[in-house]
Amino acid sequence: MDYISISNLSKTFQGRDRSVPALQDINLSLSRGEFVCLLGPSGCGKSTLLNSIAGFIQPSSGEIMVDGKPVREPGPERGVVFQEYAIFPWMTVARNIAFGLEIKGTPANEIRDRVDTLLDTLGLKEFRDRFPKDLSGGMRQRVAIARLLAIDSPVMLMDEPFGALDALTRRTLQDELLRIWLESGKTILFVTHSIEESLYLANRIVVMTYRPGTIKRNQIVTMPHPRDPSGAEFNELKRDLGQLVMKEQERHTSDEMKAL
Ligand SMILES: Nc1ncnc2c1ncn2[C@@H]1O[C@H](COP(=O)(O)OP(=O)(O)O)[C@@H](O)[C@H]1O
Ligand SMILES: [Mg+2]
Repeated sequence: MDYISISNLSKTFQGRDRSVPALQDINLSLSRGEFVCLLGPSGCGKSTLLNSIAGFIQPSSGEIMVDGKPVREPGPERGVVFQEYAIFPWMTVARNIAFGLEIKGTPANEIRDRVDTLLDTLGLKEFRDRFPKDLSGGMRQRVAIARLLAIDSPVMLMDEPFGALDALTRRTLQDELLRIWLESGKTILFVTHSIEESLYLANRIVVMTYRPGTIKRNQIVTMPHPRDPSGAEFNELKRDLGQLVMKEQERHTSDEMKAL
């Protein structure tokens, strides 16, 4: 049975003078343990889809089931990392990571052990008592990921989590995420507009069309990890997906021109 199943999902945002059809008739299933990237140009509805699965957005029609239960609201089995660093500026790194566990009422000694392990895993040990304002963007995003890992949810929903990072930090965190995924068997839905990133990470790439967002292609990627971005298969797929995304990008641009 499908672990996550999305059927006939549509979402239209109602504005004052116009409505925006963000998603139209999305059908998508994820098996347990899959690493799926949602790929598409900006504005194609990736975040809307992810936030619908997270339970933050109510769809206009259709249904989302996770582990046999319909999604109506956010739940502990679905952890989310947002595009912008969603960590609390008034808490230290360690408190930020512990936050979800404190809410759940996890015993203090267990929280301490778990936080220590995560600080270690993500290279944040020396920063445990710092505040977010004293950290680089890469470090802040590590804290956000550590906090997601702390709650240990079987589903991880990640919305362009590495988008704002420099190339080197990005690659380090991609490798870290792959290691965690391979070890834990978590189910990951990862939004990106980078073809290269999706090819480096996912075992399936779902390409979305631009407004209204529909699914254009399900691309299975069988290359074993770690993947070589300079390899032949990698680049063949990159060209192929590039053409697909380019067409959507063009529709986006011509739409914007018309609106001028
Ligand atoms: N709360 C909202 N109200 C109105 N329109 C929205 C809202 N959220 C997103 N949209 C519109 O829906 C479309 C899809 O947005 P989004 O899901 O954020 O795309 P992506 O994440 O792929 O960049 C865009 O045209 C965006 O302007
Ligand atoms: Mg988005």
